[in-house]
Amino acid sequence: MASAAGIMEAALLVAAALLLVLGGGAEALSLDLYEERCPEAEAAVTAAVRQAMAKDRTVAAGLLRMHFHDCFVRGCDGSVLLDSTASVTAEKDGPPNVSLHAFYVIDNAKAALEALCPGVVSCADILALAARDAVALSGGPSWVVHVGRRDGRVSLAAETSTLPGPRASFEQLKQAFHARGLSTKDLVVLSGGHTLGFAHCSSFQDRIHPDKAQQQDPSLSPSFAASLRRACPANNTARAAGSGLDATSAAFDNTYYRMLQGGRGLLASDEALLTHPKTRAWVALYAASQEAFFRAFAKSMLRMGGLNGGDEVRANCRRVNQ
Ligand code: HEM
Repeated sequence: MASAAGIMEAALLVAAALLLVLGGGAEALSLDLYEERCPEAEAAVTAAVRQAMAKDRTVAAGLLRMHFHDCFVRGCDGSVLLDSTASVTAEKDGPPNVSLHAFYVIDNAKAALEALCPGVVSCADILALAARDAVALSGGPSWVVHVGRRDGRVSLAAETSTLPGPRASFEQLKQAFHARGLSTKDLVVLSGGHTLGFAHCSSFQDRIHPDKAQQQDPSLSPSFAASLRRACPANNTARAAGSGLDATSAAFDNTYYRMLQGGRGLLASDEALLTHPKTRAWVALYAASQEAFFRAFAKSMLRMGGLNGGDEVRANCRRVNQ
């Protein structure tokens, strides 16, 4: 029998998909919206990202994941950037988002843009541009971001339960992408975002310390599992402990796919991409050709970034306009 939580999750997914359809898509966005009203928009965002990355390379991963989590809940409407209020717990404080970081980079870019051209550039656009810059400045591809997203006024922690989790099966991952109008190929390509960044032990602990009833996850390479157990012992109490999602976690490259092929994918949801012959073939293609991965990643980011939402240009990315 379906659990209440399962039914609630399915209802939220349908609502999220409907919102995306009603909110329009990439066709509503523009290539040159800010050319006249705020010609320095892109340069200001790039400067904010560059400045932050000069001090802390990990902000790149933070910004990329933030954009993904924004787009998957109510479309790319900056809803992930809103702070909780006395009456509403926002997405930001939902379980999958508590490890998001680098919000200050968006605040810095917004402050610079409000000084240059007040009320013009949405927070959702700033995040889409910042994610692109984060990838490019980490050695990955670049692409022209379509702009004109509007910022949403609603952000609910409960809706983050529709984000795919680290233990999601291939079917669940596919469903999460298809419900948002994205393809199975987009799933394989965008999972390549795990070429950057880090996961806490809690995201993969059960794969390396199965309880007595389970076997160790057979898809994991034994030597890789052993090294992960050293980083995350069973009695681990260090909340910051974890592992890079691939072996070169500050560089945007195709190491992620090569590791996946060698049984060294960190999350169960990463390994799940090897389940089907077709997705396995994409993994093999991107493992063999970084160029093919970069081209595909830019395209899929444009598709994900086209999931539109909101209705205003916020003055402060953390609060809706009064
Ligand atoms: C396909 C389904 C996905 C699942 C199940 C998933 C799950 C996760 C999990 C569990 C973490 C680690 C969180 C932690 O322990 O702190 C993570 C990190 C990350 N994810 Fe994903 N993810 C998915 C797709 C994506 C996509 C589409 C992108 C971007 C295009 C992305 C970008 C990232 C990045 C960059 C990090 C590292 C964050 C950091 O170091 O701060 N993920 N993901």
